Amino acid sequence: MRPSYCLPFLPALASALGVRSTACNNSPSLCDKSYGEITHLGAHDSPFLRDSSTDDSLFGDQYYDTTTQLSAGVRLVTAQVHKSNSEWRLCHSSCDYLDAGLLKDWLKDIKTWLDDNPNEVVTILLVNSDDASASDLGTIYENANITSYAYEPDSLTTAPSTWPTLQEMINNGTRLVNFVASLTTSSDYPYLMSEWDFIWENQYDVTSASNFTCVPNRPTEYDNDLSSALSSNLLPFMNHFLYSSITISTYDIEYPNASYVSTTNAASGGTGNLGSTATKCKKDYNGRQPTFILVDFFNRGPAIDTVDSLNNVTNPVGRTSVSTSASTSDASTTNGVLTTLVDLAESARSGENVTFGNWIWAAGAWGSILGGGISL
Ligand SMILES: *[C@@H]1O[C@H](CO)[C@@H](O)[C@H](O)[C@H]1NC(C)=O
Ligand SMILES: *[C@@H]1O[C@H](CO)[C@@H](O)[C@H](O)[C@H]1NC(C)=O
Ligand SMILES: *[C@@H]1O[C@H](CO)[C@@H](O)[C@H](O)[C@H]1NC(C)=O
Ligand SMILES: *[C@@H]1O[C@H](CO)[C@@H](O)[C@H](O)[C@H]1NC(C)=O
Ligand SMILES: *[C@@H]1O[C@H](CO)[C@@H](O)[C@H](O)[C@H]1NC(C)=O
Ligand SMILES: *[C@@H]1O[C@H](CO)[C@@H](O)[C@H](O)[C@H]1NC(C)=O
Repeated sequence: MRPSYCLPFLPALASALGVRSTACNNSPSLCDKSYGEITHLGAHDSPFLRDSSTDDSLFGDQYYDTTTQLSAGVRLVTAQVHKSNSEWRLCHSSCDYLDAGLLKDWLKDIKTWLDDNPNEVVTILLVNSDDASASDLGTIYENANITSYAYEPDSLTTAPSTWPTLQEMINNGTRLVNFVASLTTSSDYPYLMSEWDFIWENQYDVTSASNFTCVPNRPTEYDNDLSSALSSNLLPFMNHFLYSSITISTYDIEYPNASYVSTTNAASGGTGNLGSTATKCKKDYNGRQPTFILVDFFNRGPAIDTVDSLNNVTNPVGRTSVSTSASTSDASTTNGVLTTLVDLAESARSGENVTFGNWIWAAGAWGSILGGGISL
C-alpha cells in the first residue's frame, strides 16, 4: 500500500466504513453507548480542594479544581450544598470549615466547560444538606444560565429502562444530567432528579481497605438486597474512597485516607485497589459495569485507568493529563487537624456546644457515636 497517497482520503474512507472521527466523552467508541451502560468517573466532593486555596485543608478531597477534573476525564462531579447567610453555598460539612463559594459560581464554571467541550456529557450530584427546594436550586441553575444543557428525563418518578446514548444527548444539546440527594421534585424544574429514584449506591463509609463492598446500601429499600437492586432500573453507583479513623478520648473521627489513595485508586495492586473492586462488582452485577465510580483525589491511581478499562477505551482523545502525585504533604496537615480535633473533643467534654458540622467530613452518623449529653 502507499500510505502517502491514501492518507488524504482517510476521513472519507472512515466515514464510508462508519468509523467515527469525533469522540464522545473522550472516545469515538462511546458515542453509541447508552448513558447508563458506560462508567462515568466521579470526583467526590469535587469543589472541596486540598490545595493552597484552602491551606491544604484536610476537609479537601481533591487536589485539582472542577474544571481541571473535567478536562482530565472526570464526568461526574459531586458537592454538598449548604445555606449560609441566606445564600446557597458549597461547603464541606459546615461553611465554617471549608467554603468553596456559591453554587451559582460553580455551575457557571461547569457551563463554561460545557460550552468549550461540545461533545461531552457531564453529571452533577448535589448533596442537599440544608433541604433546598427544587425552586431554590432551579433558580440558581437559571441564574447560572446552565438550564439549556440540562437533560430532562421522561419521568421524574420512574427510572427509565434504558437511557439515551451519549450521541443522542449531545445532538439534543441536553448533555448535563442533574441528581440531588434528596429532593422533593417539581415539574417546574423537570431536569432536577431526586437521586434515589434513579440510582442505588454501595456503602460509602469505609475505614478499612479490606472492607470495600459491592452490596447496595442506599436507598434503604435496597439495603443489602442486590438482586432487587439489579432488577430495578436504578443505576449502580460505586463509592470507592477510604477514610482514616482515629479515636480521640471517646470520639471516633474520620477523614480521607490520602496516604493510601494511590493504592485505593489504582487499577491493580494492593488491598482495596479500584481495579479489583470494580471487577468484582461487575461480576456480582451479572456483568453490568457500575454506571458511576466515585473517588477522592481522582488523579491518584490514576482512577481513570480503571474507568477506561471498564469502558474498553484504549486510546482516549482530548484529555488534559494531570500529575498522578499528591500535591501536599499529608503528614503535616494531618497533625494540624488532629490537634484541632483534640481541642474540639475537649471542648465538648467540658460542656461546650459543638455543632454537627464540627465533627464530620463525610456524612458520618456522629450523633449516635457521640451519644447523649452533647448538644450537636
Ligand atoms: C446563556 O447560554 C446560551 C447557550 O449556551 C447562550 O447562547 C447565551 O448567550 C447565554 N446567555 C447569557 C446571558 O450569558
Ligand atoms: C431531546 O430534548 C427534548 C426536549 O428537551 C426531549 O423531549 C427529548 O426527550 C430529548 N431527547 C433525548 C434523546 O435526550
Ligand atoms: C470490616 O468489616 C467487618 C465485617 O463486616 C467488620 O466486622 C469490621 O468491623 C469492619 N472493619 C472496619 C474497620 O470497619
Ligand atoms: C490508610 O490506609 C492504610 C491501608 O489500610 C493503612 O495502613 C493506613 O494506616 C491508613 N492511614 C491512616 C492515616 O489511617
Ligand atoms: C466493554 O467490554 C465488555 C466485554 O466485552 C462488555 O461487557 C462491556 O459492555 C463493554 N463496555 C462498554 C462500555 O463498551
Ligand atoms: C448551647 O445550645 C443550646 C441549644 O441550642 C443553647 O440554648 C445554649 O445557649 C448553648 N450554650 C452555649 C454555651 O452556647
